[in-house]
Amino acid sequence: MLPPADTTLRQRDVDHILHPYSSPQKVAASGPLIISRGQGVYVYDTEGKRYLEGMAGLWSTSLGFSEPRLAEAAARQFATLPYSQIFGDRSHEPAIVLAERLASIAPEGLNHVLFANSGSESIDAAVKIVWYHHNQIGKPAKKKLIGRVNGYHGVTVAGGSLTGQPNIHADFDLPIAGILHTDSPSYYHFGKPDESIEQFVARIADNLEALILREGPETIGAFFAEPVMGSGGVIVPPQGYFERIQAILRKYDILFVVDEVITGFGRTGEMFGSFTYHLKPDLLVVAKALSSSYLPISGLLFTDRIFEAIAQGAAKNGVFAHGITYAAHPVCAAVALETLAIYAERDIVAHVKQVAPQLQNGLAALQNHPLVGETRGVGLVGAVELTQSKSMRAGFDPKLGLGAFIQSRALAHGVIVRALRDSVVVCPPLIITPVEIEELLDGLRRALDDGLAHARDKGWL
Ligand SMILES: Cc1ncc(COP(=O)(O)O)c(C=O)c1O
Repeated sequence: MLPPADTTLRQRDVDHILHPYSSPQKVAASGPLIISRGQGVYVYDTEGKRYLEGMAGLWSTSLGFSEPRLAEAAARQFATLPYSQIFGDRSHEPAIVLAERLASIAPEGLNHVLFANSGSESIDAAVKIVWYHHNQIGKPAKKKLIGRVNGYHGVTVAGGSLTGQPNIHADFDLPIAGILHTDSPSYYHFGKPDESIEQFVARIADNLEALILREGPETIGAFFAEPVMGSGGVIVPPQGYFERIQAILRKYDILFVVDEVITGFGRTGEMFGSFTYHLKPDLLVVAKALSSSYLPISGLLFTDRIFEAIAQGAAKNGVFAHGITYAAHPVCAAVALETLAIYAERDIVAHVKQVAPQLQNGLAALQNHPLVGETRGVGLVGAVELTQSKSMRAGFDPKLGLGAFIQSRALAHGVIVRALRDSVVVCPPLIITPVEIEELLDGLRRALDDGLAHARDKGWL
C-alpha cells in the first residue's frame, strides 16, 4: 500500500524498515536521522545540517563521501559488463586483476582469494574453509573455533557465533556448537589491580593455552581475531600479546584467521593491521575499505597450503561446492580496484601516518577529562572510555544511557561519533585533514562536557 502523499520520509521509514542494531521502539519514538548527501568527510541530513562523519559510516568510507573516480569506475563498468559470474569455467577481468592486486599487497603468502559481499559472509566462508581444509588433510576432528570476549566478526550464523558479545547471541540461539571464546586483551577492563601489562598478557595467553589443552589441541581448528577490536570498543592489543598468542597457535597447529574488516587498507597506519602487529595470518578477511564501502565487496585471502587442500577436496567431491551469485561482482570489483589505485597514488598509508598523531594526541589529552578513564587508539581509530570512578575503572550503568547521550550531543555539535559499551569511538575517513581532525576533536570534547554536566545534574557523579 502506498503512503498518503503528505506522509513524511521519517514516518515511511518507521512504517517499514527494521533497522539493524536499533531499538524499533526508539526509532519509532524519535525517528531515524535521514542522511541525504555527502561531500568529503561530511554528510548532510534532509534538513541540510552538516555532520563531520567521524565514524566513516560503519568504520568504512575511507575515501569520504564524494570521490568521483569511484563513481566513474562504476559507470564505466556498468556500461561495459554490468554483471557476470565466476562460477565454474567463467571469469572476468575486474575479478582477475583485483585478486592479483590483493595478493600483491597482502601479508606474505596470502595468494588466493574467495570473494563475497560482506565481512560476515567472508567470516562464514573462513569457517567453512577451515573445516573443509582439515577434512582434506586428515584431521577431521580439528573443527572447534576460538573467538574472543567482545570480539566482533559479524552477524551471520558462524560469524555471529564467533562474535563474543552477548547481545548478538541473545535469543538468536547463538553461539552454535563448537565455538569457544577466550579472553579479551583489554588490560583496562580485565587487568587485575596489582597486575602489570606483562603479567596480564602472560595470564591471558596461559588461559588460551589452558583452554586448548582442556578441549584437546586435536579438536581446535582455528583462532579468529581482529588486530584491533573495533565494535568491542577499539581495543588495541598490549605489547607482546600477539607474539604470545601466535606462538601458542603454532605450537598446537591451529590456523590463524585475521579479521581485517576494519583494520585493512591503512586504518592502523600500515596497509594492514597484520603489518602493524606483526601477524602471520593463514587466512585474512577484508571488506569495508576495500571499496571505500561505495559498493559491497569482501574477500577471504589464504595461503597456497590451504588452497592446495581445497583443490584436493574439490577433486574428490567433483567441485568446490561453494559460491554466491555476486562473488566478485564486476562493478564492485572495478570500484575496489579504483579504490586500491587511489590508495597507492595518494599514498594513503603515508597520509594516515602523518595525521594520526594529531588524532591520537587529541584523544590522549582527554585523559584528564573527569568522565574519561582511558583513551586509546592507533592510526585513525580511537576511543575514550567513560568512567564513573577513575580509580575503580568503573563504567556507568548502561541503563543510564550516558554514551548515547554523548553521541547525541556530538550530533548536535555537528560530529558523528559512536557510543559502544562504555566508550565513545571515532574512526573517520582516511582522507581527513588536520583541520577536520581538530573539528572532530572539538565536537567530541564539547559532547563530553555536555555529558559531564548531564551526569552531574542527574547526580551520577
Ligand atoms: C571486525 C569486523 N568483522 C566483521 C564484520 C562484519 O562485516 P559486515 O557488516 O560487512 O558483514 C565487521 C563489521 O563491522 C567488523 O567490524
